[in-house]
Amino acid sequence: MTVLGKRGYGKTTFANAIIEQVKGKKPIIIFDVLGEYEGDYIFTNHDDFVNFGIDNGIKNKIYVTRFDSDDDNIDLFNTLANLNGLYIVIEESDMFCKPSFIEPDFASIIKYGRHNNLNYLAISRRAAEIHKHVIAQSHYAVSFRQSLPLDVDTLVKFGFSEEIKTLQVFEYEMIEI
Ligand SMILES: Nc1ncnc2c1ncn2[C@@H]1O[C@H](COP(=O)(O)OP(=O)(O)OP(=O)(O)O)[C@@H](O)[C@H]1O
Ligand SMILES: [Mg+2]
Repeated sequence: MTVLGKRGYGKTTFANAIIEQVKGKKPIIIFDVLGEYEGDYIFTNHDDFVNFGIDNGIKNKIYVTRFDSDDDNIDLFNTLANLNGLYIVIEESDMFCKPSFIEPDFASIIKYGRHNNLNYLAISRRAAEIHKHVIAQSHYAVSFRQSLPLDVDTLVKFGFSEEIKTLQVFEYEMIEI
């Protein structure tokens, strides 16, 4: 799933509602780059996450990662791309992709995720600032209000209505991709 829309319109709150649904059914890994999420375990670097996983296994718990280093986040994409059955939440996903670039292991998760039973929830404000594959490979796309024409056009091409320009705060449109 991809969740988009203006600052403060409800993306993280929506993501938490989805996490609540998935909780206990799959391991949930959250790229919590802004330190906003709650979980069973919090990790501040990739090695700690890996060592914890080796010692304890990956259970149906919520694993929150708050890494300072970009390299650690990139390593985490690599680690997760080689696992299966996970639910992966990526806050501020525009940190890991641009319209013309995507971290290779983020791309693997997106591309082969259905095959490995890896589900993702990617969050970003602007539709036009992330790689199109993120939206295209989602089962569902959700948009809160969008104001810039480029973002509206991008989403209209995916099947959203022009009404996304006029949504009120906390209102969203969801489409099946
Ligand atoms: N449906 C809702 N009903 C009531 N309050 C809400 C709802 N959704 C979000 N809020 C509140 O609005 C504020 C902003 O919501 P949230 O953090 O989810 O926005 P966001 O889109 O993730 O913002 P940002 O782009 O800054 O990350 C929060 O204080 C949240 O508790
Ligand atoms: Mg947010």
